[in-house]
Amino acid sequence: PAPGLLTGKRVLVTSGPTHEPIDPVRVLANRSSGRQGHAIARAAAEAGAEVVLVSGPVSIPDPEGVRVVHVETAREMQAAVDAALPADIAVFAAAVADWRVEAESASKVKKGEGGPPQLRLVENPDILAGVARRVDGRPALVIGFAAETDDVLGNARAKLARKGCDLIIANDVSPASGVMGGDANTVHLVSGSGVETWDRMAKDEVARRLVARLGEMLR
Ligand code: C5P
Repeated sequence: PAPGLLTGKRVLVTSGPTHEPIDPVRVLANRSSGRQGHAIARAAAEAGAEVVLVSGPVSIPDPEGVRVVHVETAREMQAAVDAALPADIAVFAAAVADWRVEAESASKVKKGEGGPPQLRLVENPDILAGVARRVDGRPALVIGFAAETDDVLGNARAKLARKGCDLIIANDVSPASGVMGGDANTVHLVSGSGVETWDRMAKDEVARRLVARLGEMLR
C-alpha cells in the first residue's frame, strides 16, 4: 500500500488463538499461529495507521509500530476489543474458541476413581458479530475471516450475512492446504458484490494487498 494510505486512521486487529482454561495447567486451544493477523497489523502500521493488535497466545514476536494487547481467553479478547474501540477499520483474524469450559477448576483435575472428567462447554461471545452489529461506534469497515475445511465459499457467504460484516476473507485450512501455521495463504474475498479469489501467496503479501484494498474501500 502507499505509505500514507491510512495516515490518521485507527485500525483494530485480532489475531492468534484463544486459550480457554480447564484448570490451572490445562487449556482448550487451536492451531492458529497468528501469522496472518500479525502481518495485517504490521501492514496497516506501515500504511500509516494507528494500530491496536489484540493477540491471543502466540509464539511469534509483536509486530513493530503496533500497540499489542496480549490476552488468553475469548472473554478477555472481547474486553480488550471494546477498550480499543473506536476504530475506522476492524479486522477479526483471531481463531476465537467457540466454546469454553463452563466451570474452570480452581485446582488441577486429578486422574482417579471417577474416570475421565466430563467437560461441560458453553458458547463464547461472538466478538466480530458484536462489533459489526453495533448501532453506536461501528467501525466503517468490519472484516471477518472464515477458516473452513469444507464448502469454503458457501460457509463464507453464510457467515457474511450472519455476522453483519462488510467483507469475509475465506480460506481453506484443511490439513492438506498447509495454511494453519504455514507462511502462505490462498484467500477468497467474499462481500455483497461477489467473490474475488487471489492466487496463493505469502501471508505478508496477502496482508499488504488487503490493507491496500481496505484503504480504497474507506475512501
Ligand atoms: O463463526 P466463525 O468462528 O467461523 O467466524 C470466524 C470469524 O468470526 C473470524 O473473523 C473470527 O475472528 C470471528 N469470531 C469472533 N468471535 C468468536 C468467533 C469468531 O470474533 N467467538
